[in-house]
Amino acid sequence: MADTPLIQIIIGSTRPGRIGRTVAEWFTAHAEADERFDIELIDLGEVNLPMLDEPNHPRKRRYTQEHTKRWSETIDRGDAVVWVIPEYNYALNSATKNAIDYLFHEWAGKPLGVVSYGGVSGGLRAAQQLKQVGSSLWMKTMPDIVMIPNVHSLVDDDGALQPTEIMDTSAAALLDAIAERL
Ligand SMILES: Cc1cc2nc3c(=O)[nH]c(=O)nc-3n(C[C@H](O)[C@H](O)[C@H](O)COP(=O)(O)O)c2cc1C
Repeated sequence: MADTPLIQIIIGSTRPGRIGRTVAEWFTAHAEADERFDIELIDLGEVNLPMLDEPNHPRKRRYTQEHTKRWSETIDRGDAVVWVIPEYNYALNSATKNAIDYLFHEWAGKPLGVVSYGGVSGGLRAAQQLKQVGSSLWMKTMPDIVMIPNVHSLVDDDGALQPTEIMDTSAAALLDAIAERL
């Protein structure tokens, strides 16, 4: 690991007009203000992975596609991951799961942080599913997440997210939890 650990914050929503980028930018500002970490913001929409098209199990790490090799190199350089995820149909969104399924060793052993958002449930079901997937990849999952209910009500007229006090508190707690598990 480099002297300053690198947290990769990944925007899991790829939809045009998504609120995921706004949420991720709020959390990224928190993380960048924390001198314990280097931060990289990754937009899954820009990574633009097709549906999984590798013939081999990712445990073998025998990648055949250029997009997989690039994705592998990207995740390899990080020390911890924070996924910023929506909840779709009471579940983890498929773009996030697809991007995870491409790789194995690149995730293993790293702290997994979650920032979830949605309607009244704050994306909690998606977050629980992501933690389950992460634990099967030997990631270091943690009980506490950043959970944002009714996310659209927090966006002001300029399109910026106006965080609640509990959001700021839980973002700081998540960064502390990651630091303890690195
Ligand atoms: C396909 C789809 C399914 C959705 N299902 C849920 C859901 O199960 N629970 C929820 O709280 N919100 C749900 N929503 C509303 C999302 O929370 C809201 O659209 C949010 O903006 C999605 O994140 P995104 O804009 O970053 O894609 C759904 C939205 C979409 C597009």
